[in-house]
Amino acid sequence: MNAPTMQGLNLNAPSHVKNARLIAWVADMAALCKPDSIYWCDGSQQEYDRLCQQLVDAGTFKKLNPAKRPGSFLACSDPTDVARVEDRTYICSAAKEDAGPTNNWMAPAEMRATLQPLFDGCMKGRTMYVVPFSMGPLGSPIAHIGIELSDSPYVAVNMKIMTRMGKAVYDVLGVDGDFVPCVHTVGAPLAAGQQDVKWPCNKTKYIVHYPETREIWSYGSGYGGNALLGKKCFALRIASTMGRDQGWLAEHMLILGVTNPEGQKYHVAAAFPSACGKTNFSMLVPPDAFDGWKVTTIGDDIAWIKPQADGSLRAINPEAGYFGVAPGTNTLTNPNCMASLDKDVIFTNVALTDDGDVWWEGMEKDTGGLPAHLIDWQGNDWTPEIAKQTGAKAAHPNARFTVAATNNPALDAAWDDPKGVKIDAFIFGGRRSTTVPLVTEARNWTEGVYMAATMGSETTAAAAGQQGVVRRDPFAMLPFMGYNMSDYFQHWLTLGEKLAASGATLPRIYTTNWFRKDEAGKFVWPGYGENMRVLKWMIDRLEGKATGEQTMFGVAPAYAEINWTGLDFSAAQFNTVTSIDKAAWAEELKLHTTHFEQLAYHLPQALLDTKAAIEKRLAA
Ligand code: GTP
Ligand code: SPV
Ligand code: MN
Repeated sequence: MNAPTMQGLNLNAPSHVKNARLIAWVADMAALCKPDSIYWCDGSQQEYDRLCQQLVDAGTFKKLNPAKRPGSFLACSDPTDVARVEDRTYICSAAKEDAGPTNNWMAPAEMRATLQPLFDGCMKGRTMYVVPFSMGPLGSPIAHIGIELSDSPYVAVNMKIMTRMGKAVYDVLGVDGDFVPCVHTVGAPLAAGQQDVKWPCNKTKYIVHYPETREIWSYGSGYGGNALLGKKCFALRIASTMGRDQGWLAEHMLILGVTNPEGQKYHVAAAFPSACGKTNFSMLVPPDAFDGWKVTTIGDDIAWIKPQADGSLRAINPEAGYFGVAPGTNTLTNPNCMASLDKDVIFTNVALTDDGDVWWEGMEKDTGGLPAHLIDWQGNDWTPEIAKQTGAKAAHPNARFTVAATNNPALDAAWDDPKGVKIDAFIFGGRRSTTVPLVTEARNWTEGVYMAATMGSETTAAAAGQQGVVRRDPFAMLPFMGYNMSDYFQHWLTLGEKLAASGATLPRIYTTNWFRKDEAGKFVWPGYGENMRVLKWMIDRLEGKATGEQTMFGVAPAYAEINWTGLDFSAAQFNTVTSIDKAAWAEELKLHTTHFEQLAYHLPQALLDTKAAIEKRLAA
């Protein structure tokens, strides 16, 4: 015990915690939040098991049948707390312009005054968990430390899977090391003797970032990116501002390795918006026709990318686990993902089978039919009849699994390498039913940045709000940008100039769209493992083996340049997913105009010039 007691509450700091700023901060937060007790997580397996059992006893977790799904649990959230809340997410920089037009903003002092009464006593009747974590390999020069204080044991166990969480973090932190303070509360204090609910939360929610002081304050939600503060809040919103200041990139990107039959390996980082296929692409199983090709996962959601002295870009996955979308996943679409979920998984908001296993929409493709009976994610009986009559989903569309990266059979040997991997290509891919072709390659870095900056995508269940409406989602970072979007575009352009100046070959930049639909509203491109055919074309381009065709919007593959072995996909179908409809593109460019008008403050001239060039080609 080396810390004072706060208002009768023992801080209980273990002797290995020696960081004075940390101890003082925990004391301050305890004084504000007034938990009944403080528990310092050590990250051990025993601790994880104990907290999981505690969650079972509280009714938050249901232990799944160990014969079917060993070491696994199901949590079902409050039906009002199922996704990120973008309209409640704030970037509180000192100047409004620094948050930019795409972020909610409030002056820091005003936000602090708003949060003060909400946090005052918010943890009464609960335990405050002190969760030490490293984003990136412990002690790596590119890793950064965070400490999350949370009154949710669900958060503590999820953080154990999603990050390098535990006692060893304090060794790295030392006496005066730096960390990002992250405070989280479900916002549901308990009066003396009050019975808790299974998923405490508050209808008032605030997900707040102070970029200048690098603090995160989260109130009222227990779900995903709202509550697991290492992920979007730290590794994207705060880290993007660190990257701006220090000359690196924090991106909403998967990282994969792709090895050809000759053993030549490439690394690709791909930004797709939320629930648009990153986890799936990062675990891709090549079709039979690609004998000898191998795809391996470095990361499935976030990349930290740092320029090197030789002009290369090296990337690490700051996370240690996957918080992935369950619905739509099955052994046909993503066998590696299904294998990852065999054991030691926390499922949230999927359905429960009668034999104590999990189920979600899409699994019927594996089992050859719908189960006769389930308990849906809201605890109601579900049968195929009920589903037909009411349209009720057994699993929430944003139902997720939390699983350690080490469960993934396709995990790359270098996934944990502190040096990261060298990036050869970037992909930006939205979800668009129309207009945007299957794949194009930017003719140069600036054109690639333009494509990324103007990317549109249909909204998904990953965020609360309307689904299926096209919105601009630049770099798949719209909900995750920690500063002014146009300054971020300039950051990318400047980085490209710097790399080029050092004489390095810049990574190629591609756009993809797996989601074009036909008149009947069905996806035309088979997607999933078949995306390997597009990935292979990109590699061919890198190796100078494919000439492609010039379009008004970059270089696209000719039908004959794609390996079609084992897939019945006609030139006419190919045309449906690759054609560029001039009228649709004229409309699309109007949307780019509006988008750029909204981002006018600090918008790089180079992007306006690129737009003018595209318009000229379109008119020709
Ligand atoms: P976040 O974790 O929210 O950032 O999402 P993500 O980009 O990792 O998305 P994920 O890979 O989990 O995919 C989300 C949904 O898209 C799932 O329902 C998948 O089945 C579906 N999906 C993934 N890849 C493809 C594809 O190539 N084609 C089609 N049609 N659907 C896909
Ligand atoms: C996303 O929405 O992009 C996610 C899920 O990866 S969450 O962690 O909840 O933000
Ligand atoms: Mn994501």
